Amino acid sequence: MILTSHPGPIGVFDSGYGGLTILNEFRQRMPELDFVYMGDNARAPYGPRSYEVVYAYTLQAVSKLFEMGCQLVILACNTASAKALRTIQQRDLPNIDANRRVLGVIRPTVEVINDYTTTKHVGIFGTVGTIQSESYQMEIAKFYPDISVVGEACPMWVALVENGEANSTGADYFVQKHIDAILQRDAEIDTFLLGCTHYPLLFEKIRKYTPPSVQIVSQGAIVAQSLHKYLSRHPEMAARCTTNGTCSYFTTENPDKFNEAAGNFLNHPVQALHLKV
Ligand code: DGL
Repeated sequence: MILTSHPGPIGVFDSGYGGLTILNEFRQRMPELDFVYMGDNARAPYGPRSYEVVYAYTLQAVSKLFEMGCQLVILACNTASAKALRTIQQRDLPNIDANRRVLGVIRPTVEVINDYTTTKHVGIFGTVGTIQSESYQMEIAKFYPDISVVGEACPMWVALVENGEANSTGADYFVQKHIDAILQRDAEIDTFLLGCTHYPLLFEKIRKYTPPSVQIVSQGAIVAQSLHKYLSRHPEMAARCTTNGTCSYFTTENPDKFNEAAGNFLNHPVQALHLKV
């Protein structure tokens, strides 16, 4: 891998389309920054995959984004953040380039979760991988040991979104099922965290089956605010991020397919390019 230290765009990575919900918020909050989005659509979903596989795929994606000139990469995917981020930060980055950074979506979300809950009972929805990793439980326990956390894996939710079924009547069954299940396990929950970047697309359905006393927290704005603060605290990294307000899109699948589906996540057309990992 040949890497330069020239300033570059910020890389935003997801297994598929879900990271676009995070990218939207980045661009709204920091329109001056340049971004490169990469969706590993050919190998999505990551949710059911093992640690080894999620780590290997995520490292390949991060390496590609580094080769494309990114000095900072955001894993806009909870599954990759849960299963690959720590190893990449601790083991790989020092060997690849100690000045580059890779950040995830779990930590910034955990940092603010206490602002939302009064009962100190939080429910997290995520992929099987994210929930089984217990990353949210462990991180929340470090910051706020008094918060009790229940995780609920929702294996069908990503599939509903990826297949354009988020607003279908069929989606109601799978959404209600997991909301009922999590509330049965802990009736004191007053905050649902959508711990998967695909789930904001199901927001209306989730709201429909959630008691009005429970608030639903999406990560996009939280992660965007956190990135904004990070760049203010790290002017040396901000200086390594270019600012022409551009965004380019890459997918490991067919670009036409990506362009069409991305319309469900973005309110403007995109022209993605194919990327081989
Ligand atoms: N976007 C991923 C996440 O936030 C889920 C999609 C997948 O399973 O690949 O966990």
